[in-house]
Amino acid sequence: MSEPTTDWWRSAVIYEVYLRSFADGNGDGDGDVEGLRTRLPYLRDLGVDAIWITPWYPSPMADGGYDVSDYRDIQPRFGSLSQARLLLAEAHAHNLKVIIDLVPNHTSDRHPWFQEALASEPGSAARNRYVFRPGRGPDGSAPPNDWRSVFGGPAWSRGPDDVAGQWYLHLFAPQQPDLNWENPEVHAEFLDIMRFWLDLGVDGFRIDVAHGLIKQRGLPDLGVDHEDVMEPPDRLNHPHWDREEVHEIYRSWRRMIDAHPADATFVAEAWVANPKQLARYVRPDELHSAFNFDFLRCSWHPARLREVIDSSMAALHAVGAPATWVLSNHDVTRHVTRYGRPHTGARGPRTESTEPVNLELGLRRARAAVLLMLALPGGAYLYQGEELGLWEVEDLPEELLQDPTWERSGHTVRGRDGCRVPIPWSGDTPPFGFGPAATARPWLPQPTAWKDYTVESQSGDPHSMLELYRSALRLRRSHPALGDGTMRWLDAPAEVLLFARDPGFLCAVNLSSEPVKLPGGAEPLLVSAPLDRGRLPGDAAAWLSG
Ligand code: GLC
Repeated sequence: MSEPTTDWWRSAVIYEVYLRSFADGNGDGDGDVEGLRTRLPYLRDLGVDAIWITPWYPSPMADGGYDVSDYRDIQPRFGSLSQARLLLAEAHAHNLKVIIDLVPNHTSDRHPWFQEALASEPGSAARNRYVFRPGRGPDGSAPPNDWRSVFGGPAWSRGPDDVAGQWYLHLFAPQQPDLNWENPEVHAEFLDIMRFWLDLGVDGFRIDVAHGLIKQRGLPDLGVDHEDVMEPPDRLNHPHWDREEVHEIYRSWRRMIDAHPADATFVAEAWVANPKQLARYVRPDELHSAFNFDFLRCSWHPARLREVIDSSMAALHAVGAPATWVLSNHDVTRHVTRYGRPHTGARGPRTESTEPVNLELGLRRARAAVLLMLALPGGAYLYQGEELGLWEVEDLPEELLQDPTWERSGHTVRGRDGCRVPIPWSGDTPPFGFGPAATARPWLPQPTAWKDYTVESQSGDPHSMLELYRSALRLRRSHPALGDGTMRWLDAPAEVLLFARDPGFLCAVNLSSEPVKLPGGAEPLLVSAPLDRGRLPGDAAAWLSG
């Protein structure tokens, strides 16, 4: 962060902790709050400003915890509320803010509200918290409309003992019934849940599926047979994504958070059609920031990247919001793997491809990409393990796959487990220090090749990915030009992205495979690869003094 500001979120580098896979404190094979607590010094020394913790609430784990059965507690396999309190206090003592995941689009089917709804009559207040409808056809045996679940199959199911014959909507797994955001009780409940966590000391919320809460009245048919939440919606007036009415919800949330003494922030997960639509979520009276998935989805191509950077910044700055940049998260193929597939590579966030991965290429590009991302104006999100150069594990045994996509797609799409494999911390063999010595096996197996990618093996090696991240984050904190603000493009060869930030900072990224000459004889502060006689190697970024 360049200058201390109360709007800490405008420049923050926020590290995503996928809790189950970060560090296992009690040796049961799952990461947990205790494990995270022991690794806070690692995160402080890495140089991030905040962490975002994926859902830690009680959950049957039908979708990795995004199926919440109690929004005001911690799931026993992850810890307890008293451990969460300790975590918050310790993180704050290390100057780390803590953002938690809020899942407002749906609950778990085990949530007391949904259990009550199943046991109640059609038309009852309990059913009106969700989206229940009669089926189509003379006997109601066909779903109410043609909407598809993001994980495959219809977006409608009937409860196991539902004598009333009604169907309920679930845009995700059947274990994740959608809430009815037309119901004031749902509004009041979520405001209360947020206040509960703010009072406990959290510094903000990442809003899951922020673009999905409102459904078009009458629930009209879609007319397509596939929906994918990790892709932008196929039209502007979509019946269940990015509807205008969601903004009223976020205005009321903003009023609540502004009235709370905590200096807290919202970040939206919103997969929308274009940067202008995204900017609508971060108008001054709505949410503070939103993930920029256009940047994540962009291929490794100078003109396209420049276009995404320009259009994102123009749209966000028009509403006074900072840009945020992100390369990976727990839903998408790790970017080392995406960039390592020169042809299919970064085409989409999930690339289930048979094209072999060129790991060396992917790592080289990943080094350049992170320097680019951290030099751009605004904030940035890192996903655990990217600082180690981890790649997507694409050969997990089928019987271990847990992403609901695997079952729902009839075993045709493997899903997202490959980016969720537990972190290698130390040692030469799995579980690589993921848990205590006599630990159970991690919930997903780690590749043996990760012995060269552990935190321990990379620490102190100036050429390692980890040390590149540490140096870049250190520089980002200390250099007055970095963080929020503006940038200016400078003339450069077509394969090179070159921009200036004031005062006195140049960023040069060479996206070709050939070396190019460094601009203007400036002295690099940091390069992503060893420099050869003043030339910037292919797929490299350098931050230069101006
Ligand atoms: C978001 C989460 C994803 C989850 C989905 C449903 O996209 O990032 O992991 O499966 O929402 O809650």
